[in-house]
Amino acid sequence: EMKAVIFDLDGVITDTAEYHYLAWKQLGEELGIPFDRTFNEQLKGVSRMESLEKILAYGNKTNAYTVEEKEQFATKKNELYKQLIQKITPNDLLPGIEKFMQEVKEKGMKIGLASASKNAFTVIEKLEVGHYFDTIVDAATVKHSKPDPEVFLKAADQLGVPYESCVGVEDAQAGVEAIKRAGMFAVGVGNADQLAQADLVVSSTNELKFVDLFRAFTEK
Ligand code: G6P
Ligand code: MG
Repeated sequence: EMKAVIFDLDGVITDTAEYHYLAWKQLGEELGIPFDRTFNEQLKGVSRMESLEKILAYGNKTNAYTVEEKEQFATKKNELYKQLIQKITPNDLLPGIEKFMQEVKEKGMKIGLASASKNAFTVIEKLEVGHYFDTIVDAATVKHSKPDPEVFLKAADQLGVPYESCVGVEDAQAGVEAIKRAGMFAVGVGNADQLAQADLVVSSTNELKFVDLFRAFTEK
């Protein structure tokens, strides 16, 4: 029985996935490691330091920098990212997502947020959607980042809902993997080939409909 829906933030509630991409891309170019959106799919949902490591590995520069330099790079990326999220307003909610959250609430489901970002609270505040969430788990409180299931398991524990009664909603490959490893029903938002592990894929947040989700969950 479905009892809770746990949302990812970046790329599901709002388009900050694009801002993460732009900030990493700028840093990558400064380091002589240009990359495109296809490579960026591997960074979605992945923690800040692990994203940096993936970029360095992609440029064959894994061992080129000291720990201190890597920390400076990560800080630089975060400064760029923080500038980009300054201008977020409630208008930046992705299409249909607030309506979907309202529907989920009306059906008596609990709502959780499972984000790998240390900036999650800032973004939620700027979007003015904090009141929808019965619990928020962000990067500050988890040890292992996606595709490890910890952030989803913790959200479910805090909601008091068994894992098999939870639905996770994600735009990232690493995120969908985390949901599946948590033993939950996975909804992917984006490209069906990239998110092939998900139990249900919709092409955009506008396509998220409670009836469709309920049917797919019940059939599984
Ligand atoms: C989310 C995003 C990732 C980002 C991670 C860490 O999972 O999808 O792209 O790297 O959060 O975000 P942070 O704001 O802590 O650097
Ligand atoms: Mg995401």
